[in-house]
Amino acid sequence: MSDRIFLSSPHMSDEGYEMEYVQEAFDTNWIAPLGENVNGFERELAGKVGSKAAAALSSGTAAIHLALRAAGVGEGDIVFCPTLTFSATANPIIYQNATPVFIDSNDETWNMCPKALEEAFQKYPDVKAVIVVHLYGLSADMDKIVELCKKHNVVLIEDAAESLGTYYKGQHTGTFGDYGIFSFNGNKIITTSGGGMLVSNNEERIAKARFWATQSKDKARHYQHSELGFNYRMSNVVAGIGRGQLKVLDQRVEKKKYIYEFYKRELGDLEGVQFMPTNEWDAPNYWLSVMTLNGKVRPLDIFEALEEENIESRPIWKPMHMQPFFEKYDFVGTDVSEKLFEKGVCLPSDTKMTDAQLGKIGEIIKELW
Ligand SMILES: Cc1ncc(COP(=O)(O)O)c(C=O)c1O
Repeated sequence: MSDRIFLSSPHMSDEGYEMEYVQEAFDTNWIAPLGENVNGFERELAGKVGSKAAAALSSGTAAIHLALRAAGVGEGDIVFCPTLTFSATANPIIYQNATPVFIDSNDETWNMCPKALEEAFQKYPDVKAVIVVHLYGLSADMDKIVELCKKHNVVLIEDAAESLGTYYKGQHTGTFGDYGIFSFNGNKIITTSGGGMLVSNNEERIAKARFWATQSKDKARHYQHSELGFNYRMSNVVAGIGRGQLKVLDQRVEKKKYIYEFYKRELGDLEGVQFMPTNEWDAPNYWLSVMTLNGKVRPLDIFEALEEENIESRPIWKPMHMQPFFEKYDFVGTDVSEKLFEKGVCLPSDTKMTDAQLGKIGEIIKELW
């Protein structure tokens, strides 16, 4: 397995930044809980994305869960959620005993379609919150989505798990809504092995999220709890990895862009191939390079040809409204996300790939034509 090429796998810095922070935690026996790396990672991440406050958590999923709690989402509430996403966006809605309504994508962004969102607002005027996702590091059409949420006075949560390093009109994704979340899971553009971050300009709500994430301990000598608690905090060792990784985020975005441009140049003119959309307002992190196929070569042909050479590739995420667990919930839209799922190929986008490996992948794919 060691020579396998992955879609996106951990890539520690050549400079060893991560180990310096982790070593410091070891040297001071400050392994857990919390500590200077956690504070530092929160400060540095918030600074990087331009948010006032951040809470370092055990996962991106935990961050979405606490964002929903901070937004006051509870039993029976409706939450709009893109259908084209990873299930971790939708699962916390269920943790809160709320009800997801899935919204279709549009072809211009592959993300939440503002027209379908507007339609959903007509159908569910009492909706409590909207979660928008920046899938594969492509930003959603934020001006329109923010405007609609403001008009309907609804809390907006941005799932920027895949879009650290992506800017919409010069502003970092994850900072347009009331809350934003990031993931540092192993396949993300930077990773801490596992972890997440909740960001907001509302410092009070972030302080509350930290409180919930450490078992909601009231100020008392004994353990006292007036609210439900969670064990969702990031450890000081993990945060050390994050601080080191943050230093190479710009390098990683540069390499991801290089990979995308390589594929587009090599494969973009093949019959039926179309690459993921990039808009004039979008400066993506190119987390994954993704294309769709409309010709005689099918996605399965590519998955099989690459797998034969021990190279990972994948379909586009299967929409939530088509998932056995979620199909009972309502869906607003047409067939855009379904078509993307049928036709899409996520190409290997690992930043450790050499030019020779990229060249080989290009050749394997081109041969199918
Ligand atoms: C769009 C999206 N949302 C949420 C998550 C959840 O993040 P985590 O794995 O850190 O819980 C992920 C990735 O795993 C994701 O891709």
